[in-house]
Amino acid sequence: MTKDHQVGVGDDGLTRRTLTATVGTTAVAALLTTGSAAALPARAPAVPAPAAPSRARGADFDRCLAVARAVLVVDSADRPLVPGYRRVLHDGLPRARAGAPKSVLVVGAGPAGLVTAWLLKRAGHRVTVLEANGNRVGGRIKTFRSGGHEQAAQPFADPRQYAEAGAMRLPGSHPLVMDLIDLLGLRKRPFHYVDVDTQGRPAAHTWIHVNGIRVRRADYARAPRRVNRSFGVPRAYWDIPAAAILRSVLDPVRDEFSTVGPDGKRVDKPLPERVRGWARVIQRFGDWSMFRFLTEHAGLDERTVDLVGTLENLTSRLPLSFVHSFIGSSLISPDTAFWELEGGTAVLPDALLERVREEVRFDRRVTRIEYYDPDRAGGDTAHVRRGGPRVWVDTVSEGRGGPVVREQFTADAAVVTVPFSGLRHVQVSPPMSYPKRRAVTELHYDCATKVLLEFSRRWWEFDESDWKRELDRVEPGLYDAYRTGRTPGDGRLLGAHPSVPPGHVTPGQRVHYAANRAVTRDQPEAVDVIGGGSVSDNANRFMYHPSHPVPGSAGGVVLASYSWADDALRWDSLDDDARYPHALCGLQEVYGQRIEVFYTGAGRTQSWLRDPYAYGEASVLLPGQHTELLPSIPAPEGPLHFAGDHTSVKPAWIEGALESAVRAALEVHTA
Ligand code: FAD
Ligand code: ARG
Repeated sequence: MTKDHQVGVGDDGLTRRTLTATVGTTAVAALLTTGSAAALPARAPAVPAPAAPSRARGADFDRCLAVARAVLVVDSADRPLVPGYRRVLHDGLPRARAGAPKSVLVVGAGPAGLVTAWLLKRAGHRVTVLEANGNRVGGRIKTFRSGGHEQAAQPFADPRQYAEAGAMRLPGSHPLVMDLIDLLGLRKRPFHYVDVDTQGRPAAHTWIHVNGIRVRRADYARAPRRVNRSFGVPRAYWDIPAAAILRSVLDPVRDEFSTVGPDGKRVDKPLPERVRGWARVIQRFGDWSMFRFLTEHAGLDERTVDLVGTLENLTSRLPLSFVHSFIGSSLISPDTAFWELEGGTAVLPDALLERVREEVRFDRRVTRIEYYDPDRAGGDTAHVRRGGPRVWVDTVSEGRGGPVVREQFTADAAVVTVPFSGLRHVQVSPPMSYPKRRAVTELHYDCATKVLLEFSRRWWEFDESDWKRELDRVEPGLYDAYRTGRTPGDGRLLGAHPSVPPGHVTPGQRVHYAANRAVTRDQPEAVDVIGGGSVSDNANRFMYHPSHPVPGSAGGVVLASYSWADDALRWDSLDDDARYPHALCGLQEVYGQRIEVFYTGAGRTQSWLRDPYAYGEASVLLPGQHTELLPSIPAPEGPLHFAGDHTSVKPAWIEGALESAVRAALEVHTA
C-alpha cells in the first residue's frame, strides 16, 4: 500500500474527518456544477485537524451547503439539476458535450444500471450490463408474479395474483419516475396510501390497533384521547393526534426552507434561500438521531415519543439519522399523491430491459474490479495499464443447475451501481481513495421485510352483510359463531371457504397456526375499505390492502407485514415458512379471526437484509453520516463511476436511482 492510501489514519496531522470533509466537498461541488466527471484530488491538502469533537462540526457551513445541494439536487450555483436530467431522459445525452464513443461496463441491472445503460447506448457507447442475478433484472424492484423471475412457478394460488416484494408506491412528486413511466408507455393508477370509499373518497376507516385498543383512523383523528392515554402521555397531549404532534415539532424545522401558504399548504422558499435553509438544518441536526431530536430539541417525554413512534413508524429508526426520517416523514404521508404501476412495479424494469436486452449479461456477479488511474499509484493491477483498457472485471455465475463459471470483461469505464453494503465484498484494485473506502465500509444500511398473504376474497372490502353471506356459505351459523368467539382454534377453518382452491393449506400449517394464534374473543366489525392499511403494535406493524383488484380475480394479496429496522429483524430471524402463520395471526388480531376462512395457504416473503444481491433495504444513514460520508459517495475514482439510490439523498426511492443514473451517464459521456 502506498503512502496515498494510508492518509487519514492519523499521520501527517490528518484525521479521517478532515480528509473526508476536504475531499468530499470538493468532489461533490464539482460534480454538481458540471454534471461531469470530476477527478478527486489524489491527495488531500494538509489542513490541521479540527480541535473540537463532533458537535463543532456544525461550524463547517460549506460542507452543510454541499449536503443541502445534494438534498435539493441543485448545482454549486444553486441551479436545479432535475430539469436538465429530465431533458436527458427524454432527448438523450447532449451531443455537443460528447467525448469519443466508449466501451462501458455497468455493474448491476436495477433501475439505476438499466437507465444508465439505456442512456449510454442511445448516445452510441458500447455498453455491457453485468447482473449477478440469474433470472431477473430490477434489483429491489421485484414483483412476485406468475411467469416472472420464478419462471414456471406461480407465487399464489390464483395465477393472476401478484404482489410487491420491494418498491410499491411512486410519489407523484418524483419527476424522473413519472417521466420514465410516460416515456416507456406504462400505465399508472393511484396507490391509496389512505383507504378510500366506493366513490374513491378518502375514508381513513382502517384500524389503529395499539395497547389492546382498536380504533378507526378517522375516529382517532377526531378523538385521540383513549389511545393517547393508553401510552401514558401527559395531559397536554391527550387530545392531539400523533401525526399532529409530530407535525408541530417538525414544522419549525420546515420553516427554515418553506413557508405556509394562504391555503395552509407548505410552499418552498425560492432558491437559493431554500439551500441555505436546508444547510442550517443540516448544520444544526445533521449529526442528531431522531430520538435525540424528539427528546432534547422538541422536549417530548418518552411516552409521547412512544405514541408518535408507534403510530408514525418512527420507533424502529429512532437511533438513525434525524435527516433521513425528517425527509421520509414528509414524503410518506397522507398529503402525498402516490401511484402504482398496472401489472406490478416490475413492468418498469421489464420495459427498460427491452431497450437493452442485447447488452445485459445475467448471472454474472462482479467479484473483482481493477482500474487504471494515472493519478493513483499502487495496487496489484495486472490487467490494466496505460494505453490499454482502463477497467477489468472478473465475474462468477451462480451455477444454478450447472457448473459455476467465471468470465472476465474489459472496458474504458465502468458504472458501479452495487449497493455499498455489497461493494464491501468486491475486491477493488488499486484501493480507492480513503473517503470512498470509508463510505463503503461505514455507510449504514437498514433492513426491511415484507410478508404477503393471499386470500380468495377481498374481505377488507366487505361490509357485515357480505361477511354474513360468505361465512354462512362455509357453515350455517358460522357468522354468529365468530361474533361470539365460539369457533375452533385448531386451524381447521383455515381456507374453509368454498372459494379457496384446495392443496395450499398443509396440515403442518394448521398445527403451526393453532400453536401461534392469539387467543382472543374480540371480533371487530368489518373494516370495509378499499386500499390503505392499518397499524398495530404487534409484530406485523404495518399492513396494506391492495388499492385495485386484479382483473378477473375475486381475491387479493395483503401486505400482512411491512417493517423496518429492528421491527424487520424480528421477522428476519424466522425461516420464510415460519413467517406465514405468524403474519396471519397478527393480521387476525387486528381484523378478527374470521379472515382465516379465505386464507389460501399461499404467501410470499422478502427479507431485504438476507437478500444476497440487495444486502439490505437501503442506505438509511446514521447520525452524522450525511455530512461525513455523503459527499464522497458519488465521486468517481478514475474510470469508475458510481450510481444507485445510495449515491443520492433519496435512498429507498426509485427517483434517487434515476437521478444517479442520469448523473453517471453524463459523467461517462462527457469525460
Ligand atoms: P438495486 O435496485 O438494488 O439494483 C442493484 C442491482 O445490482 C441488482 O439487480 C443486483 O442484483 C445487482 N448486483 C448486486 N451486486 C452485484 C454484483 N456484485 N455484480 C453484479 N450485479 C450485482 N422505491 C420507490 O420509489 N417506492 C417504493 O415504494 C419503494 N419501496 C421499497 C420497499 C422496499 C422493501 C425496498 C427494499 C425498496 C423500496 N424502494 C422503493 C426503493 C427502490 O426499490 C430502490 O431505490 C431501487 O431499486 C434502487 O435501484 P438501484 O439500481 O440503485 O439498486
Ligand atoms: N421507499 C420505501 C417505502 O416506500 C422506504 C422508505 C424509507 N425506508 C426506511 N427504512 N426508512 O416504503
